[in-house]
Amino acid sequence: MALPRLILSLAVCLAPAQVWAAAVSHATDPCRSASFDYVIVGGGTSGLTLANRLSETPGVTVAIIEAGTFPENVVGNLSAVPAYAGRLEALAETNLSAGWGFRTAPQPGLGGTVAPFVRAKLLGGCSSINFAAYSRASKGSLQKFADAVGDQSYTWDNVLPYYKKSMLFTPPNSATRFPNATPSYDPAYTARRGPLDVTYPAYGEAWGTWVARGLTAAGLPRAGAFITGTLNGNTFQVLTLNPRTGHRASSDTAFLRPVLSRNNLVLFDGTLAERVLFDSSKTATGVSVSSTKCPAAFTLSARKEVILSAGVIQSPQLLMVSGVGPAAALAQYNITVVADRPGVGQGLVDHILIPLTWKTNLAIPDTASPASVNAFNTAETGPLTNPGGDFAALEKIPAAFRTNFSASTTATLAALPADWPEVEYLISPFAVSPGATPGQGYSSLFVVLQAPQSVGTVGIVSASMADAPVINPNWLTAQADIDVLLAGFKRIRAFAASSAMAPVVQGEFLPGAQLQTDAQILEYFKLAATSIHHGHATCKMGKASDPSAVVGPTGKVYGVKNLRVIDSASFPFLLPGPGPQTHIYMLAEKLADAIKSRN
Ligand SMILES: Cc1cc2nc3c(=O)[nH]c(=O)nc-3n(C[C@H](O)[C@H](O)[C@H](O)COP(=O)(O)OP(=O)(O)OC[C@H]3O[C@@H](n4cnc5c(N)ncnc54)[C@H](O)[C@@H]3O)c2cc1C
Ligand SMILES: *[C@@H]1O[C@H](CO)[C@@H](O)[C@H](O)[C@H]1NC(C)=O
Ligand SMILES: *[C@@H]1O[C@H](CO)[C@@H](O)[C@H](O)[C@H]1NC(C)=O
Ligand SMILES: *[C@@H]1O[C@H](CO)[C@@H](O)[C@H](O)[C@H]1NC(C)=O
Ligand SMILES: *[C@@H]1O[C@H](CO)[C@@H](O)[C@H](O)[C@H]1NC(C)=O
Repeated sequence: MALPRLILSLAVCLAPAQVWAAAVSHATDPCRSASFDYVIVGGGTSGLTLANRLSETPGVTVAIIEAGTFPENVVGNLSAVPAYAGRLEALAETNLSAGWGFRTAPQPGLGGTVAPFVRAKLLGGCSSINFAAYSRASKGSLQKFADAVGDQSYTWDNVLPYYKKSMLFTPPNSATRFPNATPSYDPAYTARRGPLDVTYPAYGEAWGTWVARGLTAAGLPRAGAFITGTLNGNTFQVLTLNPRTGHRASSDTAFLRPVLSRNNLVLFDGTLAERVLFDSSKTATGVSVSSTKCPAAFTLSARKEVILSAGVIQSPQLLMVSGVGPAAALAQYNITVVADRPGVGQGLVDHILIPLTWKTNLAIPDTASPASVNAFNTAETGPLTNPGGDFAALEKIPAAFRTNFSASTTATLAALPADWPEVEYLISPFAVSPGATPGQGYSSLFVVLQAPQSVGTVGIVSASMADAPVINPNWLTAQADIDVLLAGFKRIRAFAASSAMAPVVQGEFLPGAQLQTDAQILEYFKLAATSIHHGHATCKMGKASDPSAVVGPTGKVYGVKNLRVIDSASFPFLLPGPGPQTHIYMLAEKLADAIKSRN
């Protein structure tokens, strides 16, 4: 593994004197134990947002522990260039310098398949490798959130300021986009208050303009950006991109780089958090860490709090190896139980997708030619500015396609808020399957679950963070998920065959028109279903009276003191919308304020 370069990379590129300032007791030896006010585990999407906000207060010291390092030192320009997102995802699946290399347990719903479970191991976390979709939740889903956790500060009206707080919105560039790729957004919901760039890519995908037309004809109308609390209709998506450079915007670019010189913020990259330490009164006192650069483990102590932002897999894993989790599971590995919390590692939910590809007369975007590279590097325009999935639609499955839903599916879906979409249709301007003919145009759509009911688990196999946990997401085990994907698949097939799409669609390539019966299509699902990497809720937020809740409304872990989880793991469930990173930034902003006001 080629991790770390912590001090070296900082010392060479940035302001070394300030990074290792007097506030930090180990300025001369980064392998020595040291104390901070806050110790944050995970320099990812939520962790860097929190680190930035907490260290805004002069004199408050913050340590960030991150196993990875600066993306450019590991993956070159793959993280910066939006159109390389697909290549970076593939790299992060297997390359242990860029990702964690996680695999699922064999999935019963997919005929026993073992699938990759992609997580980034880089500063910025998954925000450094994702497809940049940015969207807020619906009003009804946030009311459900507020009710589930017993805290009305989570309603739409109350979280909207925190959604806006990080956002630096720039309107679309009509000079560089196709005239018929005109995005719409309601300026009442945009903001220019924060450091996170949100905009439309300088180049819109042609396929999106056709899908917009086709879906509108199929009764799924045009909508503005999914940032208004309403999630229905088709839209060009706002993305986390920097319009001035054309590059990706992430928690690294927005929340870390601008403040690396703060003398009260210290970054331990290339450093693995091994265990949260507790004293005899169950108060978290710090984190035991190891670093490839250091001869032995050492301790980063927290005078105020330890905050876990290690993501949906490792926040629960770190709790369990530290003694917070289901007592029986901990006993198996002789882990001393600090708090018996049966919910730790339960509740894993994700957005699952099924791909369809058509032969079309639309050229695949040219992201490889010198002309495209030049357009990107000199004018911040062209296909390299676009990660690919810049157009999406959301809906509840319309009546004509839900006639075969089982009674249980109907009842389950009826219990959701009226504005919670069941399905997303997301474009990709490429062929999904290999075997495409050179010179032929291909275009794809993903049918994506928006109200997933299959629930999985994360479990430990040892007391060590060095051993990957067992990830069993149980994809496609809930009948409702199968029913919704089947209905969405049929809806999209009908749409592709419509007269509105006839000018571009030339026939189905994947899975192919030979698959017609429900049984055949469901067999295809077992081969083709995959995650869109939105896993959530493995340390779920809930009321103190809920024994399966792991954290309370401000992220505090029940049963112990001075420990929070604030990241994708700590949501009560996966909120709807194509871009859950937006909720994670919102939660980190909200709870940074809570911490500052000592709540
Ligand atoms: C390929 C891909 C595409 C996606 N596309 C989109 C999209 O278009 N829009 C969207 O909104 N969302 C997307 N997502 C999901 C979104 O990016 C994630 O849900 C979100 O970034 C997770 O944030 P987090 O803070 O919970 O964790 P992360 O951002 O994953 O951060 C966790 C960090 O903790 C570090 N860490 C873990 N364990 C330890 C340890 N023991 N010691 C030290 N460090 C540790 C990790 O290395 C990582 O940097 C995508 C995700 C992937 C993988
Ligand atoms: C991981 O990817 C980086 C960047 O492409 C490369 O330098 C490195 O050799 C890869 N490591 C492995 C183990 O494949
Ligand atoms: C747990 O402790 C028991 C008794 O000391 C020992 O026999 C067993 O091997 C230990 N298990 C593990 C996983 O360390
Ligand atoms: C990204 O880096 C690679 C390898 O150095 C280079 O070939 C490619 O042109 C770069 N892309 C851009 C857009 O600069
Ligand atoms: C319902 O199921 C029947 C039998 O499999 C099938 O012919 C029909 O097309 C299905 N209807 C829908 C809307 O899926």
